[in-house]
Amino acid sequence: MERAYIEDVGKHIGEEIEIRGWVYNKRSSGRVRFLLVRDGTGIIQATTYSKGKDNPLFREFDRLTQESSVIIRGRIKEEKRAPGGYEMELAEISPVQISENYPITPKEHGVGFLMSNRHLWLRSSRQHAILRIRHEIIRSIRDFFDNEKKFTLIDAPILTPAACEGTTTLFDTDYFGEKAYLSQSGQLYMEAAAMAFGKVYCFGPTFRAEKSKTRRHLMEFWMVEPEIAYFKLDDDIALAEELVEFIVKRVVEKRGEELLKLERNVEILKKIERPFVKMSYDEAIETLKKEGFHIKWGDEIGGDEETVLASKFESPMVLHRFPAAQKAFYMEPDPERPELSLSFDLLAPEGYGEIIGGSERISNYDLLLERIKENKLPGEAFKWYLDLRKYGSVPHSGFGMGIERTIAWIAGIKHVRETIPFPRLLYKIYP
Ligand code: 4AD
Ligand code: MG
Repeated sequence: MERAYIEDVGKHIGEEIEIRGWVYNKRSSGRVRFLLVRDGTGIIQATTYSKGKDNPLFREFDRLTQESSVIIRGRIKEEKRAPGGYEMELAEISPVQISENYPITPKEHGVGFLMSNRHLWLRSSRQHAILRIRHEIIRSIRDFFDNEKKFTLIDAPILTPAACEGTTTLFDTDYFGEKAYLSQSGQLYMEAAAMAFGKVYCFGPTFRAEKSKTRRHLMEFWMVEPEIAYFKLDDDIALAEELVEFIVKRVVEKRGEELLKLERNVEILKKIERPFVKMSYDEAIETLKKEGFHIKWGDEIGGDEETVLASKFESPMVLHRFPAAQKAFYMEPDPERPELSLSFDLLAPEGYGEIIGGSERISNYDLLLERIKENKLPGEAFKWYLDLRKYGSVPHSGFGMGIERTIAWIAGIKHVRETIPFPRLLYKIYP
């Protein structure tokens, strides 16, 4: 008998097959027993009837509890009323292990409880839908850079000798008697790689010891970071727009079922198209003042402000040219107004805020050295980075897209904690 996955049962109508999975649910109705089995690829309804006399399958059916592991065998038929549209007529039920007192029951549980049972919560259909969308988004990003744009993937190190995005959010560790830090961003290494390969990206976990307990912050998150030689700020923004549009289209096309499960309004996603609205930091401050915010030039545009700005548009929007003083040391100043940096943030609509941050990088040796000193960064650790400005320096730009924030927006999930299999949250590192 052939073993099949539930996602493929449609190819086996009229055949007897074996499915290996877990009990999702079961119920009885008169002489019929309904077993819902999941195998990670879907859920199938399996049924058996009592035909007047004793049905030996009922004894096995009665032993099964929620999340018991089980192998079932039987004939597949079409059944419009069953979830998925197919049903198995049970010929055999073989329990593998009987689960006792599974903690997550179909009743409502608090999120704290569910998070402490994250290792089991992953089995629920909602988490399943979110993580399948995560996979699709990651796949589409790789497809975009690998196949559409012909970038080279260059992996950045995780253990690093210095900070990239400010010294206040570093996780440090002992590296044979020296201090090392978990990477906040692979960018500096991508700059070296861009000078070698022209257009590159890295895609990996990054770490921020951010004492923020918001719906947008994780201590460990995944970021994709392209870096391109001879790219100016406008080229960089255009690439970010193209990437975002590409991802949204792909998820809408391939993950309709999951979006439906999450009750995501897909019509909103279908309307997303380039070009996105561009607004300078100066204009944003003026707009926010008109909206009644007590904000002045030089202030940070925080989460609430981002929500107000971005909710004016259906597609994402781009804020650009932030004051240099509030941005990272490596950003190229605007030649027309050196108090500004050639930087941008891409904000998702519907209140999700910044999902991408990027900039043109300083290409002049002396200016970069000055910025490293001003920021009191350890000169020794940045020697190699300065080298890039000594040997064939060129204008170059890149950006970083946070995967979890992107998933939260596209899947319509309020908090990023559900968008990563095992979130690292403030003071919480279990499971
Ligand atoms: O704006 P950020 O800090 O930019 C950089 O790290 C640059 N070095 C990237 C580059 O130019 N190569 O972070 C980029 C993105 C943010 O827009 C956000 O989506 C995400 O990373 N991000 C976080 N996501 C979850 N939790 C956090 N604590 C995050 N911090 C940043
Ligand atoms: Mg940022």
